[in-house]
Amino acid sequence: MQQQRENWGSRLGFIMAAAGSAVGLGNIWRFPYTAGENGGGAFILIYLGFVFVIGISVMTAELALGRKTSLAAVGALKSQNRNWTFVGVLGVLSAFLILGFYPVVGGWSLAYIVKSLSGILATPDTIPDAFGIFISNPVEPLLWMLLFLAMNITIVAKGIAAGIEKAGKVLMPMLFALLVLLAIRSVTLPGAGAGIDFLLKPDFSKVTATTFLAALGQAFFSLSLGMGIMLTYGSYLGKDQNLPQNAFIITSMDTLVAILAGLAIFPALFAFGLEPTAGAGLVFVVVPTIFAHMGVLGPVFSTLFFIALAVAALTSSISLLETVTAYFIDERGMDRKKAVYGIGASMVVTNTLASLSLGAMSGVSILGVGFFDFFDILTDKIFLAIGGLLISVFVGWFMNKEDLRDELTNQGKISFGLFNVWYNLIKYVIPIAISFVAVAGIISVTQTGLMLFGLALIVFLAIFSKKLA
Ligand code: PHE
Repeated sequence: MQQQRENWGSRLGFIMAAAGSAVGLGNIWRFPYTAGENGGGAFILIYLGFVFVIGISVMTAELALGRKTSLAAVGALKSQNRNWTFVGVLGVLSAFLILGFYPVVGGWSLAYIVKSLSGILATPDTIPDAFGIFISNPVEPLLWMLLFLAMNITIVAKGIAAGIEKAGKVLMPMLFALLVLLAIRSVTLPGAGAGIDFLLKPDFSKVTATTFLAALGQAFFSLSLGMGIMLTYGSYLGKDQNLPQNAFIITSMDTLVAILAGLAIFPALFAFGLEPTAGAGLVFVVVPTIFAHMGVLGPVFSTLFFIALAVAALTSSISLLETVTAYFIDERGMDRKKAVYGIGASMVVTNTLASLSLGAMSGVSILGVGFFDFFDILTDKIFLAIGGLLISVFVGWFMNKEDLRDELTNQGKISFGLFNVWYNLIKYVIPIAISFVAVAGIISVTQTGLMLFGLALIVFLAIFSKKLA
């Protein structure tokens, strides 16, 4: 059944694709508003701690598990220990759920490219309303979402080296250059200082248990962890690759882009007297406003920015779709194209529901939230952190320590001086840290019904996955 397994064409290609997965809407769209809603600098400090202690270690664990088994999420866990299959299943399910709203926002980005070009966004006063009107329109955002999906599907259908890797190599450097340009413009605006303070001066009075959960959720989301994506990407990686080093590079790139996005947005936001807590619309409101104040070059920059955002979203969405696709290829022996088109068809349904939940269907709620938030909160607040916890527990307690050392040192060919530190983090520190944060956060979250549903689903998978997968 097993088809010839593809591999990455080059190290750079892998890094760009993995960084392309990590760097996405999470960095440019979600990070700024989550930081804004959780107190700015204090949130960022906690976030950085989570990223460089927990995130990087879990990423290393995922890459190791993927490369060791040469199998994607479900297969990798199943091949090591059948009782843990459900962690892979949970990962694939999380990817599928994120794929249920991510292309909606990807579609908004595409729409804003055209809106920038056409000059509709040139008058600052109308921008906030324009965003609300646009996303609640029953037709327009759907068309853009479909366009985004079509691009996503086409690339993943082409496969690893010819599709995913090629896209990442072109798109990532372009994104980076654009963000640097924007950040420079933002911090040099008159009145930018207040925004820089907001980002860098921690205000600990705003910190609560939910701040920690938000920071942890954001760290996992942003690094594409806890759901077997890095595991899947690791499974296409050559045996000569230095896994800890790659994890470090990918994590650093992701963090750099998030900080750059913060620098592009907050100084400008304060300079124009807008609110840092503008929620999901932040990027779509603040950024066009910045550009609208920039005269003739405004529309050009605005266009470039939304191209960058769409690109970032696309490379991440590609990795999500690849994770679900790889499950059908590895575990169900399906042909790649067939798998991609099948999943694509169901994505049309979930994304239509998510998009309409912000307008025409805003009255419809499941467990107290609309479809968009349902997909988002369930994954970001519950599944990713718990997925990361379970992967750590599995790697730390159910895999052989010397096998892990061999995998991370390429059978002793390279050195990994921090191996013992990493191992103890994965085995003891991270499971305890995530448990604390998850319990405290889940208790304090207001959508109780949704939380209970999420936890029940995990328990259900734990019991029945062996039969399902
Ligand atoms: N890491 C991506 C981002 O920051 C989103 C993502 C999450 C992609 C989970 C894959 C898996 O936008």
